[in-house]
Amino acid sequence: MNNPVIENVKDRRSIRRFKNEQISQEELHEIVTAGRLAPSGRNVQQNHFVVIQKDELKKRIRRVIEDAYAAIPKDHPSYPKLERAILRAKEHDYDFFFSAPTLIVVANNKENDNAMADVAVALENMMLVATSLSIGSCYINQFKRMNENPEVLAHFENLGLNPDERILGALALGYSALPWPERKDITGNKVTYHR
Ligand SMILES: Cc1cc2nc3c(=O)[nH]c(=O)nc-3n(C[C@H](O)[C@H](O)[C@H](O)COP(=O)(O)O)c2cc1C
Repeated sequence: MNNPVIENVKDRRSIRRFKNEQISQEELHEIVTAGRLAPSGRNVQQNHFVVIQKDELKKRIRRVIEDAYAAIPKDHPSYPKLERAILRAKEHDYDFFFSAPTLIVVANNKENDNAMADVAVALENMMLVATSLSIGSCYINQFKRMNENPEVLAHFENLGLNPDERILGALALGYSALPWPERKDITGNKVTYHR
């Protein structure tokens, strides 16, 4: 079957190297609109998209998250990737959103039992529209881990988050600095048919 939506789903890949060039306002508008049009449980529409393009703000956000990772106590349950992240954060070398020109942080109400799902479907909508515009995107999870950290909360309240909102995901966006990756061979994810 050949259809542009199916092709687009197959073409989406995580992009982690970006050109130092901002996406256009029109492209940004289409991507954010795709996030806002995503479904939400009980149609509560409580996602809050914080779009960050100012270099100074991106630098400060990176530093706030680096400081939070650097402060993770030694006895905290860990795994190799987290240990590497902590080490890099301590060296102020934790480029966890890959110096993307645009960062979209997505929060939702902390009392909403569908908050994580509502954020995730919006992120996927935005990734698919980005892909269709030949814009690279990558799901960024580091904010979620730190979403009860007082410094991170205070920082994002200054950027417009309400005290009852928590960040559950984010998206790095920009033009890919590398050729678009190949489509994947699907090897994981189980399917059980009863036909
Ligand atoms: C819930 C979730 C969290 C993710 N968090 C990160 C992240 O923090 N940093 C990152 O580089 N990629 C992140 N990814 C991207 C995955 O690593 C990526 O989707 C996976 O390796 C498959 O590659 P593909 O996106 O190119 O198909 C995340 C993806 C999902 C769905």
